[in-house]
Formats: sequence, structure tokens, C-alpha cells
Amino acid sequence: MLKDQIINLKIEAVGEILEACSLDELEKIRATFLGKSGKINALTKEMPNLSNEEKIVIGKLLNETKKTIEDVLRQAQDKLSSQKENHEEWFDITAPGIKPQEGHLHLVTEAISEITSIFASLGFRRTRYPEVEWDWYAFEGLNMRKNHPARDEWETFFIENLENEKMGRGILTPHTSSGQIREMEITPPPIRMINIAKCYRRQSDVSHAPMFYQFETLVVDKGISITHLKGTLDYFAKNFLGYDRKTRIRPFHFQFTEPSFEVDVSCGLCNSKGCKFCKGGWLEIGGCGMVHPTVLKNCGIDSSIYSGFASGWGVERNLMMKSGLKIDDIRLLYNNDLRFLKQF
Ligand code: DAH
Repeated sequence: MLKDQIINLKIEAVGEILEACSLDELEKIRATFLGKSGKINALTKEMPNLSNEEKIVIGKLLNETKKTIEDVLRQAQDKLSSQKENHEEWFDITAPGIKPQEGHLHLVTEAISEITSIFASLGFRRTRYPEVEWDWYAFEGLNMRKNHPARDEWETFFIENLENEKMGRGILTPHTSSGQIREMEITPPPIRMINIAKCYRRQSDVSHAPMFYQFETLVVDKGISITHLKGTLDYFAKNFLGYDRKTRIRPFHFQFTEPSFEVDVSCGLCNSKGCKFCKGGWLEIGGCGMVHPTVLKNCGIDSSIYSGFASGWGVERNLMMKSGLKIDDIRLLYNNDLRFLKQF
């Protein structure tokens, strides 16, 4: 009887220990079985009533049972206390979290979406035309015949073994003006286009990169005049570069516009007074003009009914002239150096 009681006690104790979820629970179990007034001691108290032989067997069994319970208890305590340590390490809610690094769009990408939305508010529709272009769209259609010296300006990359009888050689588009011809070819007037695209020229210095972005406007409608052109340029300069900025146009020559102009913007650092950066109060920002009648004709548009203006400016150059930004080397934009990019 006593023997069975001891065996059952062992089973009961081990079962409870294995199911315990906390050190407190284990401590209670220890007191219940191994404590001074615990179950083992209660059974030990019955020893004096036993015969000598029984005392030997039961005494041994009681000792083994006590030892087994102690061993299993110690293992359970070790396991729970190591879990507790891990638990505390992982779930210390007072520890400051690790902040994920937060990035932002590249400066040039941000500038492109800003330019797009400024022109969108005037009703200009963004277009996209091929980067690998035919000579016809980049030059010939724009009134620059083969071997014309004006082409030298656009230090062009030619594609080997790409030539078309009608379209001429394949090139990397050297300016967004090719988009004018493509747009007029497929869209009858009225036209309000903004073509923002990568351009390529064989050049590299503080203000030139072999790959850069331009944005080209083209408006073709009845009665379009220079005042529309100037008003659009002013609107853009104020909204993109800064509200106190002014523009002026200077006569210039481009084959595809007549008259042609270069556009200057008042210097944002000295407010047109003249400083080291601008040397005279104004900064050159891009070209523009009234679409040449020959260009309209090349695209099947009657120049006695329609007129238009166009402008083509560099995205990076405009970005560098934005009020508050002091970027003095275009190559910084493309070095992918986080120390630079993170400042914006
Ligand atoms: N395509 C010219 C360039 O890359 C810039 C330009 C000048 C564009 C006059 C125009 C324009 O649309 O009318 O230098």
C-alpha cells in the first residue's frame, strides 16, 4: 500500500512539474512535495510503524522518489529561468527601437515631377519619345540639314550599323526637341506638350554630364505669340525657381525657331545685383523661340493658320539654380554619394 502511494506520488509530482509554466508554480510544487510539511515527509512519518525489512525497501524507495523529484524540479527551474532571461531580452518594451533608414526619391526625379505638375496646371500634357532616335527627328526635321555646321553644338553619339534610308542614322537623342517633330507628326493642333527625357552628348565638366535631362515645351495653336511664350516662362520660373525670380529673353539663333532667344533668370543669391556666382545679375537657363515655319511644314502643319512656341531647358541646370539650393557641380547629382543625397 505504502509502496503504491509512493509510486503514485512520484508520478503526480513529475506530472505537475512538467506542466508548470513559471518559477513561482515550481516553488509551490516543491513545498507541496518536498517541504517540511510536504507529502514526502508525511509518508516518512509512517516509517516507524513498518517492519525492519519493510523499512529498508520503503526507505530506499522514498529516497529515490525524493531524489527524482528534486532532479526533475531542478531541470524545470533551469529551463524556465533561461526562458525568462531570453524573454526579457526580446520583449523589453522600454528599449528604444531600431529606426529603419528612410530614403527619398532622387533630387532629379523630384524635380521632374515638380516640373511636370507645374506645366500640367497650364494644360501641358507630358509625352515620352524614344531615347534611341533617328537623325530626322533630332536634326533634319528641325531644319538642320546634313553637314550643317549648327549640328556641331550637339556633340552627338551615333549608333553603329543603324541607318534608315529616309530617317538617316540612329543616334542617342541629344535634345528633347526631337519630341517636337514626333508630337506634331501625330497630334493635330492645338498642341500643349511637355517632353521630359534623358539626353546624351559627348561632354563632361562642372556644368555638363554625358547623360542629362531636358524638358521641352511645345505649344501650337492659332494666334500664338511671343507674349504667350514669355508669360509661360515667367510662370514656370516663379513656381519652380522661386517667387522673386524674374526672366528675360535675349535674341539668339537656333535653326528650328524664328525668332530665337536665350532665357536668363535673375540670380537667386544676389537678387540681380551681380555676384561671384552670376557675374552680372543673370544666369542663362535655356533656349526658346517661335517654331520655324519650315518645321511646321515638315510636320504637315499650315504655318499661315498656326503658329507656336517652343523651349528646351536642362532639368539639372534649373535644379541647381533653384532658390535655396547651392549645387555648383552637376556631377554631384550622379555620383550616388549618400553623404550628398542625404542633405536634401
Ligand atoms: N534643343 C536646344 C538645345 O538642346 C534648346 C532649345 C532651344 C529648345 C530653342 C527649343 C528652342 O525648343 O526653341 O540646346
